[in-house]
Amino acid sequence: MNEDFFGELKPTPRLLMGPGPVNAYPAVLHAMSTPLLGQFDPQFREYMRQISELYRAVFQTGNRSTLLVDGTARSAIEAALVSLIEPGDKVLVPVFGRFGHLKVEIARRCGAEVVPIEAEWGRVFPDEVLEKAVRLHQPRIVAVSHGDTSTTMAQPLAALGKICCEREVFLYVDATATLGGMEVATDLWSLDAVSAGLQKCLGGPPGCAPLTLNDRAAKRIGARRHLEQGLKKPGEKDGEGPIIRSNYFDLAMVMDYWSDKALNHHTEATTMLYAARECARICLREGLSGAFARHALASRALREGLQAMGLELFGDPAHRMANITGVLIPPGIDGERLRSTLLERHNIEIGTSFGPLHGRIWRIGTMGYNARPDPVYATLNALEEVLLEQNFSLPRGDGFDAARAVYGAGES
Ligand SMILES: Cc1ncc(COP(=O)(O)O)c(C=O)c1O
Repeated sequence: MNEDFFGELKPTPRLLMGPGPVNAYPAVLHAMSTPLLGQFDPQFREYMRQISELYRAVFQTGNRSTLLVDGTARSAIEAALVSLIEPGDKVLVPVFGRFGHLKVEIARRCGAEVVPIEAEWGRVFPDEVLEKAVRLHQPRIVAVSHGDTSTTMAQPLAALGKICCEREVFLYVDATATLGGMEVATDLWSLDAVSAGLQKCLGGPPGCAPLTLNDRAAKRIGARRHLEQGLKKPGEKDGEGPIIRSNYFDLAMVMDYWSDKALNHHTEATTMLYAARECARICLREGLSGAFARHALASRALREGLQAMGLELFGDPAHRMANITGVLIPPGIDGERLRSTLLERHNIEIGTSFGPLHGRIWRIGTMGYNARPDPVYATLNALEEVLLEQNFSLPRGDGFDAARAVYGAGES
């Protein structure tokens, strides 16, 4: 074996300005190096209770069932859908980017009759279109993204929440990329189930996924509770509903694991739970409105800077996410070569996109720990240099000056 295999890990530090993951808050990384505990240790159960309480505040909900799913954000999407969808259920999925297609795919695997409706990438659905679709298709469940990072657009949810609530349709929302950076008003908007990820606005590493379920959703899922044979007490009955077609993502069991019943399900990902706790603490110490304003300000500074450099922003300006910006790759610029030069020379990562947007836009995130002036300035300065190198004509220094004007001359 090559000697390198025995060397310590020493990755070159990068500034992660893509669509996520972003650099974690140092305090989160510190929390992850604290001692492991067993998940039934009373200290650990207390941390689990704290996590539920902290994430209730982050999700703006009173939902009892507020917990973490172990796995990246997709694990909570899958857990919510496989636990909510009963085979044969009609599921309406508004698709306005890659992550809408992901929900179509997961819902199909759950045995749903899926009705996708599509909006052009770069736009979202007007409220009336969603209302009409709910009336027309009469789904049991609607599954939608809040912010779709592939297009950088955010779908308004208040009107959809209202119509779903009135018609007793379950509404699941994928807030992976917006929780902690944009308003996600779970109770006010009548969202039945919402999930997220740590690696975006919450400024943690990928690896666990906060999830909240209201009582209506928890009841539906609880009716499908089929306890593992090895854990059943004599005479213990299964729920009336159809068995959930996943064991790991069976939220009926996961809710019992998180509740005072402390059901023995999986081994908790201790270190990720510590990270999630620190992410929520940081977010709430700042205050939700402070965190939202900081994300919006960083994006505004970045956007002003990009436009001052002569670049054009992508998508419907009225529905941009507060934490990620799509930029059209100018004609004659090799987008992938530029990204590699940024990474190799400046240690800055920005994103490309998928499907119809591949090669058409870059995606630049300003979220979590990186929603600050210095990462914005560093990105604009480096971008200027690599664009000039590819003979893009731009006014030197204007990008930085425009961003600095947004932050105000007093900022670093
Ligand atoms: C809106 C949305 N949903 C789901 C995911 C998938 O998350 P993960 O890769 O953490 O599983 C992402 C990742 O970028 C996302 O932006």
